[in-house]
Amino acid sequence: MTNERVTELLQRAYSDEIETVMNYLTNSIVLDGVSAEEVKQSLEADVQEELNHAQMLGNRLKQLDERPPASADFEARQESLQPPEDSTDVVSVIDGVLDAEEDAIQMYRDLITAATDADDPVTEDLAVTILSDEEAHRTEFRGFRREYKQD
Ligand SMILES: [Fe+2]
Ligand SMILES: [Fe+2]
Repeated sequence: MTNERVTELLQRAYSDEIETVMNYLTNSIVLDGVSAEEVKQSLEADVQEELNHAQMLGNRLKQLDERPPASADFEARQESLQPPEDSTDVVSVIDGVLDAEEDAIQMYRDLITAATDADDPVTEDLAVTILSDEEAHRTEFRGFRREYKQD
């Protein structure tokens, strides 16, 4: 049905999604300025999508008779996504988001491979669905990055 590598990756992906929710939410609140407005709105919308990813991963763990992690097991990893000291530094947030989305894309690619090897098509299908959302997020923030390419 599945194996340990798959459940480990599901748990790690769940943690990453929760950290992403926290950092996107905080940055959507912290940023200031006219040029930040679109990025803030996009982050707000993505908070809901990333939370939905965590729910999907948690429910899959439950189906596999495992549990998603809670805060005692949490390890922060998104250094580049910490809110910038200068609240008008939109580029720093955009770059942090691109790092987070690249990490997520790699994570779901690894999960797809592991699920295929474990003959677990349900997890594989879930990972493909989420991967497509993460690629869409990356595309959106690459677009924002182009507007700031002078920096
Ligand atoms: Fe996500
Ligand atoms: Fe994402």
